[in-house]
Amino acid sequence: TRTPVNVTVTGAAGQIGYALLFRIASGQLLGADVPVKLRLLEIPQAVKAAEGTAMELDDCAFPLLRGIDITDDPNVAFSGANVALLVGARPRTKGMERGDLLEANGGIFKPQGKAINDNAADDIKVLVVGNPANTNALIARAAAPDVPADRFTAMTRLDHNRAATQLAQKLGAGVEEVKKLTIWGNHSATQYPDIFHAEVAGRNAAEAVNDEKWLAEEFIPTVAKRGAAIIEARGASSAASAANAAIDHVHTWVNGTADGDWTSMGIVSDGSYGVPEGLISSFPVTTKDGKYEIVQGLDINEFSRTRIDASVKELTEERDAVRSLGLI
Ligand code: NAI
Repeated sequence: TRTPVNVTVTGAAGQIGYALLFRIASGQLLGADVPVKLRLLEIPQAVKAAEGTAMELDDCAFPLLRGIDITDDPNVAFSGANVALLVGARPRTKGMERGDLLEANGGIFKPQGKAINDNAADDIKVLVVGNPANTNALIARAAAPDVPADRFTAMTRLDHNRAATQLAQKLGAGVEEVKKLTIWGNHSATQYPDIFHAEVAGRNAAEAVNDEKWLAEEFIPTVAKRGAAIIEARGASSAASAANAAIDHVHTWVNGTADGDWTSMGIVSDGSYGVPEGLISSFPVTTKDGKYEIVQGLDINEFSRTRIDASVKELTEERDAVRSLGLI
């Protein structure tokens, strides 16, 4: 029998946590033959609620679930961690300035990055879901100098999945027929969902759509502002779809992209496509054997260039802000 994989989830008592943990424990994160041990990290006030979720996990009698530890100590939570899903974060509250938001999240992601550095397994893979995800990942990564930088990733898979459905619906195709979509930049309203290299049922998506007005005025804003539209409709932010995207992100990272397709991940830039080295920005990537590579050589047209640059500019500003706060 295989040794269990240690999966740490922060913010385990939150709404994404509740949608996520049962899917991890059932085998959807890593595979139907991979046993898992869960480590749940919460703040002290929410440990009891996390214990309640753990009771329900027990009550599911998942054959792959080999144990659940609950703690408010990051050093314990990340001890021996192979996969870490950093979901817990400080949300922006009314009237909060960006600097305050970044500082509050720095207070979470800096110590967690250090705890990962000091305690995680050598093969640790980190996905940051908690917003601002890219910059939180940057902070955690900076606090973990002994961990290879490419192990810190930020989630743009929800944006990727949203874009796939919007595009499929526009063209009357199935989502499984959509390939090679890209989310570039920041997981924020400045993100750029790029269909110029995408294919739908074997045809170039931009040619099949052939409607730049729809692209600029409907598709891009719909994808970029979907999070706000969900809050407006549901009265709460995306949870099940965010958990689903986290499952997809890690599953793809570990198990690989299909031939002839790629995915989108927020990763440390190596300078590709003019994105300054070191920023955590979303790119098109292929994955294989637990490693990913940026898809190279794509032709970036003027329409795309302007939008990628705008999102990267925002990432640069966030990086400069956390640098001046001494968080990186
Ligand atoms: P939530 O407020 O329901 O849950 C967050 C949980 O994190 C709470 O239980 C809280 O106690 C916990 N927490 C706070 N600080 C912590 C710390 N230092 N250590 C451990 N746990 C801590 O929020 P929800 O809806 O689950 O969302 C979580 C995050 O995910 C938010 O930042 C949200 O903006 C983000 N998000 C990101 C998406 C993406 O596409 N990247 C999509 C949707 C949400």
